[in-house]
Amino acid sequence: MGDLGALVIGSGAAGLTAALLLADTRPVTILSKVDAKSGATPWAQGGIAAVSHERDTPEDHVSDTLAAGAGLCHEHVVRHTVMQGAWAIDQLIEWGVQFDLRDSSRDVEDGGEYHLTREGGHSARRVFHVADSTGAAIASTLMQRAHHHPNIHVLENRVAIDLIVDKDRSTCVGVYVLNRASGLVEALEGSAVILASGGASKVYLYTSNPDTATGDGIAMAWRAGCAVANMEFNQFHPTCLYHPHAKSFLISEAMRGEGGILRLPSGEAFMGRFHDAADLAPRDVVARAIDHEMKRLGIDCVYLDVTHFSRELLTRRFPNIAARCAEFGIDIAQAPIPVVPAAHYSCGGVRTDLQGRTSIAGLYAIGETAATGLHGANRLASNSLLECMVFARGAATHILASTPERSKVTDLPAWDESRVIDTDEKIVVSHNWDELRRFMWDYVGIVRTTPRLTRALHRIDLLRREIHEFYSSYRVDADLIELRNLVDVAELIVRSALRREESRGLHYTLSYPQTSETAEDTLLLPNR
Ligand code: FAD
Ligand code: SIN
Repeated sequence: MGDLGALVIGSGAAGLTAALLLADTRPVTILSKVDAKSGATPWAQGGIAAVSHERDTPEDHVSDTLAAGAGLCHEHVVRHTVMQGAWAIDQLIEWGVQFDLRDSSRDVEDGGEYHLTREGGHSARRVFHVADSTGAAIASTLMQRAHHHPNIHVLENRVAIDLIVDKDRSTCVGVYVLNRASGLVEALEGSAVILASGGASKVYLYTSNPDTATGDGIAMAWRAGCAVANMEFNQFHPTCLYHPHAKSFLISEAMRGEGGILRLPSGEAFMGRFHDAADLAPRDVVARAIDHEMKRLGIDCVYLDVTHFSRELLTRRFPNIAARCAEFGIDIAQAPIPVVPAAHYSCGGVRTDLQGRTSIAGLYAIGETAATGLHGANRLASNSLLECMVFARGAATHILASTPERSKVTDLPAWDESRVIDTDEKIVVSHNWDELRRFMWDYVGIVRTTPRLTRALHRIDLLRREIHEFYSSYRVDADLIELRNLVDVAELIVRSALRREESRGLHYTLSYPQTSETAEDTLLLPNR
């Protein structure tokens, strides 16, 4: 295959934004491990945070982000991101995203305003949204543009396995990719490689995330020699639908932003006991409070009450949630919604700078795969889509300014299959998937202790050896590739959690309940 220009691994908000910004100047290939609509982006509900009017200020958005991040955000990164909020919204509107208006009969050109919602930890209404399906609107608009762009080539059902780096592991030149249709592994060359493969919340048994969230980019970068940061900070969303068949469907925080109230089975509105901002406290506080009440009372769930909203408001603002709950026999205008926390977002990831650069030349990481310093110990709601846009822009700008187009095809080392055979032991893979995700939930969840973390690390060590042996003996398929990544990511999470001898933000451990005076990142460096 000839020169593919830039290779973007992932077709979510981050990957698509980078591709669209590069494509006017440079050929781009986007890889997606299933179809192009996969990833967390189409599932995003609440919206994208950005300061847009005189009743709000960038300074307030900065201080809300810093407060949620519990002392660990990098302030210059927060400022850099917040200051580009207006650009992100304008760019999305220019590409065709139609955010909700305050009054649908009055367009912005006619003096109308966008409707802004609010979520936990935000001191003002500043979240642009498209009803409760903001991610789907963004993903479909960007994907449509990418499909029509002559310089963008989208390859679906291609699972990136490992990065190809040069001999001294200082430069990334391409990636090995499993073509799911043919079952063959291809070596693809890129003048730049962008990891935009999303987060790793599938490492937990219960998650709001789609099946793609197996931390592939983080694991690939780690194996290639990149530094990773703050992996202990996995965010648990407080409110996912509690129903045996709902697969942790998210109930947006915007419902609490609009006045929804969390209640115990007795009807008590309990969040006021845990935080002055009650139901609009930062996410780590709300998730921990729910976990505490569930354990204290021995109950299976708590309830989100929106029965005081009018049916008209619920249908207009939350049609997706109302319809999904109705499928499970819950009329949200009449009955409170049973909810539980579930793993939602990886705040840690591949350490990058403002341009998405990793510690390997030619390799960039953006979106949920990256640890930019924006989220610190806990992400503020609706800051993720903003980060996807801003850092995609940074990476695209850097690539266009500094990476020459490559016309010559490098001799990439071919994938070696000489010592592997087809497996007849698929049960090993599915068993290890289940085991890993269950003990991560039980031992490395919302509340941790050192003995539980140590127990988890011991299990991971055994699984890792078994999985790596399996990987070197049998032909790869998507499940095995993902399991190998999950076990690597699980190890990074637990090792990071063991290093943090304090409780901060999303990392809460009974073994060290205090918060240290100084806040430091957890940086893991591979043995290069
Ligand atoms: P993703 O959108 O997850 O895309 C990852 C892409 O990488 C996919 O195309 C996938 O197929 C591909 N991929 C992965 N591994 C490989 C591989 N090995 N090879 C090839 N391709 C690969 N954030 C907000 O800011 N506001 C919200 O309202 C909001 N709501 C959310 C609601 C839900 C239910 C969830 C799950 C998340 C929500 N988030 C929200 C978080 C936000 O949606 C994600 O953090 C963000 O969309 C991540 O975008 P991304 O481009 O980094 O990755
Ligand atoms: C939500 O709508 O509650 C999710 C928002 C987010 O994760 O930022």
